[in-house]
Amino acid sequence: MWTGFPLFPEAASTIASGVDLLYLFLVVVSVVFSVGIFGAIFYFALRYQRKTQDEVPEPIHGSMILEITWSVVPFLILMVMFGWGTAVFFRNFHPPEGATEIFVTGKQWMWKLQHPEGQREINELHVPVGRAVKLTMATEDVIHSFYIPAFRVKKDVVPGMYTTMWFEPTKVGKYHLFCAEYCGNQHSGMIGTVYVMAPPDYEAWLAGAPRGETMSQAGERLFQRLGCHTCHAADRPGRGPVLEKVFGSTVLLADGKKVVADEMYLRESILRPGAKVVAGFKTQMPTFQGQISEEGLMQIIAYIKSLESKERTTTQ
Ligand code: CUA
Repeated sequence: MWTGFPLFPEAASTIASGVDLLYLFLVVVSVVFSVGIFGAIFYFALRYQRKTQDEVPEPIHGSMILEITWSVVPFLILMVMFGWGTAVFFRNFHPPEGATEIFVTGKQWMWKLQHPEGQREINELHVPVGRAVKLTMATEDVIHSFYIPAFRVKKDVVPGMYTTMWFEPTKVGKYHLFCAEYCGNQHSGMIGTVYVMAPPDYEAWLAGAPRGETMSQAGERLFQRLGCHTCHAADRPGRGPVLEKVFGSTVLLADGKKVVADEMYLRESILRPGAKVVAGFKTQMPTFQGQISEEGLMQIIAYIKSLESKERTTTQ
């Protein structure tokens, strides 16, 4: 739609044209009203200027119809903006089922990316065209913001939590990746490239990229190294909750509340075990704050997720 129009970056995702259309609507409404209001100001200034020294204007006592019109019309236009904006927002907020997951860690001043299969990238992201991708993002230090203009997606990456976003690229090509939140003196250098590839090229890239272990294998190694398995063992329950199938389930807490065991819950339970204690257990787990990097946390969570369906294969 905007090809050759230098004000807009290329539109290369399924949501891009929807965002552009909404933006265009906002611009058109703003321009129409600005021109109308300024036009009226100038017109009235000329039309009703005082013609003689002692001219006194007729007093105005208000007009109900006018008052209602200029209240209701802007209200309706704003409700359209609100409804339309909300629809676009919700669509951009909820990743579709079965989206490919990729994990992002921001760090002064680079983007580190992990694919579940084990490939790792720095300041580069390879994704296939026509497939939804969901990013789970964390930061090792300050706030960053992951921004791909061509996909019309941007999301802050905030210390102490995970944020997620998703996109589905529609065009093979090379696109800019920026950090869009001032994060220190090399902020402007925190940039990268997104490579959108045709599926066969992507498969070839996946196969050719240097890969060590998968994320869940790396997580399993950490799980052993930190000694998690001594308390969280499926075959010797008692000291810590069994983690098999815990991901995505609803957990009953000691205080009677219920939480869904998602990424945020697992992350919090590793770093601050006392925050949400599972019913029937005491807080005896030590905190792992400061002992695991954000990347390591994502790996352990990937491992716990992998315990969802299969038996744990680990030996002690
Ligand atoms: Cu990271 Cu700006």
